Amino acid sequence: MSIAERPTMNLDEAIRLRRSVRGFLPREVPQETLREVFALAQFAPSNCNVQPWTPHVVSGDKLRRLREALVAAGMRDEPIKPDWPADGKFVGIYRERQVGAAQALYGAMGVVRNDTVGRKLAYIRNHAFFDAPHAVLIFMQEPFDTREATDIGMYAQTLMLALTARGIGSCAQGALGLFPDIVREQLAIPSNFKLLFGISFGYEDNEVKANGARVERAQVDDVVHFHR
Ligand SMILES: Cc1cc2nc3c(=O)[nH]c(=O)nc-3n(C[C@H](O)[C@H](O)[C@H](O)COP(=O)(O)O)c2cc1C
Repeated sequence: MSIAERPTMNLDEAIRLRRSVRGFLPREVPQETLREVFALAQFAPSNCNVQPWTPHVVSGDKLRRLREALVAAGMRDEPIKPDWPADGKFVGIYRERQVGAAQALYGAMGVVRNDTVGRKLAYIRNHAFFDAPHAVLIFMQEPFDTREATDIGMYAQTLMLALTARGIGSCAQGALGLFPDIVREQLAIPSNFKLLFGISFGYEDNEVKANGARVERAQVDDVVHFHR
């Protein structure tokens, strides 16, 4: 069945089925489908409808060059220079969830805790866009800040659900925001545009072990406070 003939899944299904995909087939998503999902993502809400997102979709040769530059920076342990601090330490239940997610991923990949080289190579897969044929790097213009970043989070999830509904996998990656100068230089983006994060996307490669990782969610009663 072609993508065009594929019945679109309902919203509940797309929400449940979306998960981070970290290994992709080289097959590109058709340009018309790309335009369709990005047009759909434009329906995301934003404060005062300012639509503060500036997505740069990268494919083909440009993506290959960006991948090489980011992988090289990661491999030579170049100091990160994110546009926003990326050194937040999680504590308590948040730390437990972070560790749980890392264990699920490294466990699926067969990388043990004290294998520092294995962990580094697993991390560098982020810089390689997990071999995805496309990535979107999401920028925000200065002086936008936290309020506009929340809008961009909504935009990103809307986009990922639109991709999921078309059978296209994706992974949001803060790791793609650690070397913004490289991205700006390669894509000729002015310095007043700040990089929040990226999303790699494409068709999932089921053979990639990382794609076997599954993470749990807290129960509604443990997180939601109902008031009346
Ligand atoms: C803003 C954001 C940044 C993320 N950064 C990364 C990342 O750098 N690398 C990665 O492998 N996953 C990253 N993730 C994916 C999360 O680890 C993932 O969403 C979480 O563990 C829940 O799993 P699921 O997406 O499979 O449901 C990020 C997710 C979000 C929303």
